[in-house]
Amino acid sequence: MIRYAAIRGWGFYAPDRVLSNFDLEQMVDTSDEWIRERTGISERHIAADTECTSSMSAEAARRALASAGVKASDIDLIIVGSASPDYLFPATACLVQDSLGASKAGAFDLEAGCSSFIYGLSVASQFIAAGTFDNVLVIGAETLSRFVNWKDRRTCVLFGDGAGAVVLGPSEQPTGVLSTVLGADGSGGDYLSLPAGSSRLPASHETVDNGDHFIHMSGNEVFKFAVRIIGDAVEQAIAKAGIRIEDVELFIPHQANIRIIQSAAKRLRLPMEKVFVNVDKYGNTSSASIPIALSEAVASGRVKDGDHLAFVAFGAGLTWASAVVKWGV
Ligand code: ACO
Repeated sequence: MIRYAAIRGWGFYAPDRVLSNFDLEQMVDTSDEWIRERTGISERHIAADTECTSSMSAEAARRALASAGVKASDIDLIIVGSASPDYLFPATACLVQDSLGASKAGAFDLEAGCSSFIYGLSVASQFIAAGTFDNVLVIGAETLSRFVNWKDRRTCVLFGDGAGAVVLGPSEQPTGVLSTVLGADGSGGDYLSLPAGSSRLPASHETVDNGDHFIHMSGNEVFKFAVRIIGDAVEQAIAKAGIRIEDVELFIPHQANIRIIQSAAKRLRLPMEKVFVNVDKYGNTSSASIPIALSEAVASGRVKDGDHLAFVAFGAGLTWASAVVKWGV
């Protein structure tokens, strides 16, 4: 019997605190107009002091489990995709496992920059297809506000915090994750990095003074890379799934920048009516962006059983990933 990995539950959590472009005008030399024109972002959510990646992950996971009707004690595996985990170790996934009381679950983190959620979806679906596990929780979660230099207008306007989660389970129907494509080009690692605080450049007074614990990004290089890679990645996932671009009912790209999204849609000849966009409200939530967008798309009635969804993401690494998902169990 062929086992498919269906998405049985979904949910997201965004912190209550909203930081608007107008708030940012008070913090750095920027304007609402510049941010909206160059990125499409109007506001983003920022974690409270009491929140962190594991707490937001756990909340998104609880919502996904409730929507799936699956108990935490029935989860076999928890994967947290994040570039901003609580700690280097222990893994954020273990903190989530404890918080949920997922007593029989294995748990690990997966780091592929903003592509982490789709990477996690790919890993989870292999375990389900192989018959190793039945219920797998895949979470994408970030607290990038803690790693942004709030004095650097080139980066601080871009990112937001949040978490999204899905519960995958087996189906005998040809549904769920039909294909995934994973890619990496480590030669571009310097374009987007957090240089200090790990084994290569441990924390010191000097690294703190140099601001090396903040996100460093060559925005233009990342932009060019994203525009180049997205179309190819989606076309590969579509070919692997055995469908055509016209069969995609909803395209859910990583929400980093509206200009990147529009250029990808144009390249793929997808009308914007078929493209889900919420970057205006959340900014770039990195690994969390696709599960948040998916959850909002479902809640707003944009997804119905039998629809083909195409996901694509790109990010630090550099990495990229795409997937075709057929909705329904
Ligand atoms: N407000 C006002 N002016 C600004 C701001 C700001 N917030 N930020 C930059 N500028 C200025 C620059 O200083 C520059 O001025 P100058 O010409 O006098 O030097 C000018 O605006 C143009 O700057 P560019 O960097 O060329 O602007 P660009 O149009 O490329 O937009 C942006 C910058 C939005 C960062 C874009 O390059 C982008 O979105 N890149 C992709 C970034 C991305 O997606 N990163 C996330 C990857 S996911 C992950 O793994 C975390």
